[in-house]
Amino acid sequence: MASFEGKVVTKLLASRGAIISLADINEAAVKEATASLTGSDKHMYTVVDVRSSQSVDSWIKSTVERLGKLDGAVNMAGVITPTKPITEETDDTWDFNFAVNTRGVFFCLRAQLKAMTAGGSIVSAASAFGQVGSPGVAPYCASKAAVIGLTRTAAKENQHIRVNCVAPGENYIYSVVVVVVVVVVVVAAAAGW
Ligand SMILES: NC(=O)c1ccc[n+]([C@@H]2O[C@H](COP(=O)([O-])OP(=O)(O)OC[C@H]3O[C@@H](n4cnc5c(N)ncnc54)[C@H](O)[C@@H]3O)[C@@H](O)[C@H]2O)c1
Repeated sequence: MASFEGKVVTKLLASRGAIISLADINEAAVKEATASLTGSDKHMYTVVDVRSSQSVDSWIKSTVERLGKLDGAVNMAGVITPTKPITEETDDTWDFNFAVNTRGVFFCLRAQLKAMTAGGSIVSAASAFGQVGSPGVAPYCASKAAVIGLTRTAAKENQHIRVNCVAPGENYIYSVVVVVVVVVVVVAAAAGW
């Protein structure tokens, strides 16, 4: 949660009174992100590698022990490897994308669902690339598509908890559509249609 998007989410939640348990593999970043929150002394942070189920389970356990309960969770940790065609991707780039983006979300979801009571909410990071694909980042696209399938299944299995994922990048697609529509309307008005 020390990511660009994680910081935006945690700042908003903290400004609305939430007490937050942040986690990231990057200690300096998660420490700084925690210190920047409203009421920083109430929050906690843990260095977590989401590729390890032990690391994730211990983080969720210590969060509930210290804060009392878990009402919501946001799973934003993610990686993307350098652009190359599928024919040049290696076993390692495939495994790395899936280890963080997919297994990481699976480990987090599993631990959070066990700890959360009815009425809770979990949001994980997928990507518009996981919906539409994108040349040069096949392992990333596939790992994010898997997050969508995982989320849908978790939502159907746990109807007492809202389980969703977000697909950043769609705003860009919608923005292009809006710009095209606006240009067409402006052209139409100028042409007296
Ligand atoms: N920013 C975008 O345009 C965009 C678009 C589509 C999807 N997303 C997804 O949204 C999420 C957040 O994006 P962002 O731009 O804030 O990313 P970011 O690169 O700023 O942050 C990712 C965070 O994940 C952490 N991380 C990496 N590996 C980890 C691990 N093994 N264990 C724990 N933490 C780990 C990093 O330290 C970092 O703080 C990611 O999952 C990303 O794939 C982002």
